[in-house]
Amino acid sequence: MKAIIGGTGVDSLPGITSEKSVIKTPYGDVELFVGRGKDAFLVFLPRHGSLHSTPPHLINYRANISALQQLGVDEVICIYAVGSVSDSLRPGEVGVLSDFVDFTGGGRQHTFFTGGEQKVQHVSMDKAFDAELNAKLLQRDRSLKQAGVYVCTNGPRLETPAEIRFFKTMGFDVVGMTCATEVALAREAGIKVAALAYSINWAAGVGGKDEVAFIDDATIASLRDAMTILCVEVLGA
Ligand code: HPA
Repeated sequence: MKAIIGGTGVDSLPGITSEKSVIKTPYGDVELFVGRGKDAFLVFLPRHGSLHSTPPHLINYRANISALQQLGVDEVICIYAVGSVSDSLRPGEVGVLSDFVDFTGGGRQHTFFTGGEQKVQHVSMDKAFDAELNAKLLQRDRSLKQAGVYVCTNGPRLETPAEIRFFKTMGFDVVGMTCATEVALAREAGIKVAALAYSINWAAGVGGKDEVAFIDDATIASLRDAMTILCVEVLGA
């Protein structure tokens, strides 16, 4: 079984009929959608809940990934809205991520391996993103960029210009608030991951603007639709 995890507004599967389900996990209930494509099942999971009511730092990432695991998901494509820190991905562009840095500060429930019955295990993040799945995405859509390294902040506030200057100096390319926690847990669960990032703004203090400005809603909606269709094609649903 394959899955797509999406953020704000990525809540439907064009061309696929899907049914809402609630999955019970040891970490809480998860609402998701199971769709039937041409020849495969596909799970769609809106990470912030179906009404986008959960901010990034309060998302129940463990429940989300545990629900996918219960459904037998072995491959997932995650879609992330990001701010652009470097030129590798500019506002309005879509690309694949190569790696991530976790700057959330450690306050989230970010691991399944909490000791005791859950054991202590140090899962490798040498290859957080799956090379084969990334290659399939890049092959299917030649306009995709190499979006580079995602730095994950805790949010929900946006960054200061000084924080973004620091991230740029460190060589990070895009900034967001969800990827590191979600991908690390998916890897702990043995799920292969690829990530599509789409930039909706220049991060604070870059791009020659005084204030963070977002691209328009219609452009965001069409980027999301195109990414969802691409994911469905690549996951073979
Ligand atoms: N910062 C953090 N997360 C984001 C941004 C940003 O500028 N844009 C979209 N998600």
